[in-house]
Amino acid sequence: MTEPRWRVIAPGRVNLIGEHIDYNGLPVLPMALDRAVRIDFATLDEPVVRLTSTAPGCELTEFRLDRPVVRALQGDWSNYVRAAAWGLVENKGPLEACDRPLRGIEGQVDSNLPVASGLASSSALVVAGALALLKANDVEVAPLDLAALTAHAEQFTGVQGGGMDQAACLCGVVGHALRIDFDPLRATPVPMPDDWRWIVASSLARAEKSRGAMRAYNARTRECGEVLAQVVAALPSGGAPSRSYRALTGAISVDELLDRAARAVGPRLLPRFRHVVTERRRVEEAQRAMAEARIDEFGALMVQSHKSLRDNYEVSTPALDEIVSIALDAGAAGARLTGAGFGGCAIVLCSRRTAPTVVEALMARFYAKRRKRRSLDDSPFGTVPPQEPIFEARASAGARVAAYPL
Ligand code: GLA
Repeated sequence: MTEPRWRVIAPGRVNLIGEHIDYNGLPVLPMALDRAVRIDFATLDEPVVRLTSTAPGCELTEFRLDRPVVRALQGDWSNYVRAAAWGLVENKGPLEACDRPLRGIEGQVDSNLPVASGLASSSALVVAGALALLKANDVEVAPLDLAALTAHAEQFTGVQGGGMDQAACLCGVVGHALRIDFDPLRATPVPMPDDWRWIVASSLARAEKSRGAMRAYNARTRECGEVLAQVVAALPSGGAPSRSYRALTGAISVDELLDRAARAVGPRLLPRFRHVVTERRRVEEAQRAMAEARIDEFGALMVQSHKSLRDNYEVSTPALDEIVSIALDAGAAGARLTGAGFGGCAIVLCSRRTAPTVVEALMARFYAKRRKRRSLDDSPFGTVPPQEPIFEARASAGARVAAYPL
C-alpha cells in the first residue's frame, strides 16, 4: 500500500438531550466525542477508493468514482464510504463539477469509537470518507455545508436519519456542547460547566442501524410524518401554521398541542407525538440549565427524556433502563439512553465529586454480573478494550485532516 500522506480524524458524538427529533427539524444538544474514526491515506491519480480496515470482519473494499456508486451488501462497512462518494460525486455534489480527472484515495480505516453503540460511528465514517476525498481533490467545503451534504448522503445506506450526527462530528468544539438547529442547519457552541462529568455506559447490546434497528428507526420517522399530518389537518381552518413540527411548536403551546392531538390522533401515534413535542421543550430548558450550570435541572430533564423514549417512543431496552436506574440510585444528576436506542449506550451526567461513585456502582451492579454470565469480550465495543464498557466523554473538536505522520 502507498505510504499515507494524510490522516483524517472524524469524531463520534454523544447526544445529551433532544432524541429522535432531528429528523423532525427540531433542535438537539449533542457534543463531539474524543473518540474518532480515522483514515490514514495517500491520494491516487486514478479515480479509485481502496481502503482496508483494522476492525475484524472489515475486508478490503475497492470501488471507482467514474462509474455510478453502487451499494455493497446490507451491513457492509464500505457502504458508509460509498455513501460519502455518492454524495460528493453524484447529485450535483462538489466533485461532480470538477473540471479535471478525479483523484482517488488508498488507505486504512481505524477507530477507537465503539461501533453500533449509538455514538454515531457510521456518520463519522461517512464524514471521514468525504473529507479524505475532498482533500485528495483539493476541494474545500465549509463544515455546515458538508454536514448537510453528508446527512443527505448517508441516506444512501437506507436509513432515513436526521442531520444531528454529521453536524456534531464536523462542528465540535472543545469544552462545549452544540445546539444544532435545522432548516437552515446551524451549530451553536454552548460552554460546558467545569464541574460536569459525562459518563458513557454501554448496554452491551449492539444497536446496528444498518441491520435490525433500521426498520424500527425508519418506522419512527414515518410515524412522525403521519401524526404531524393528522394534527395539522385537525387544526381550525386557517389556523395551521405550516406542515412542520417547528412551525407548530413555535405557534402553539405544548399543552394545547397535546390537548388537540388527544382529540385528533389514535392511541398508536399519540405517544410518538407527545415525545416529539415535549422533547423539544426539554431541549430549550436544558440549554438554559447548562448555560446557568444548574446540573440538577439538566439531570431531571434527561430523566424525563429517558422515560418518554421508553414509554412514548418505545426505543429503550431493559438493560438501558437498568443502567439509568443504577446511575440515579448512585447519585448521578441524570441519565438517559443516547442515540437511536434499541441497544447501544446510556449517557450519565454527574458532578466531578459523584462521578467515581457512579462508575463504581455501574461496574458492581450492572457489569460484574454480566462478566460472570458471559465474557465481556463479546461486547460491542469495537476496538475499545473490553474491560472498558464505561468511559468518560469529553467534549472535543470537530473533524479535521492533518498531514501524516502527525
Ligand atoms: C441516529 C440518527 C440521528 C438521530 C438519532 C436519534 O443517531 O443518525 O440522526 O435521529 O438516531 O436522536
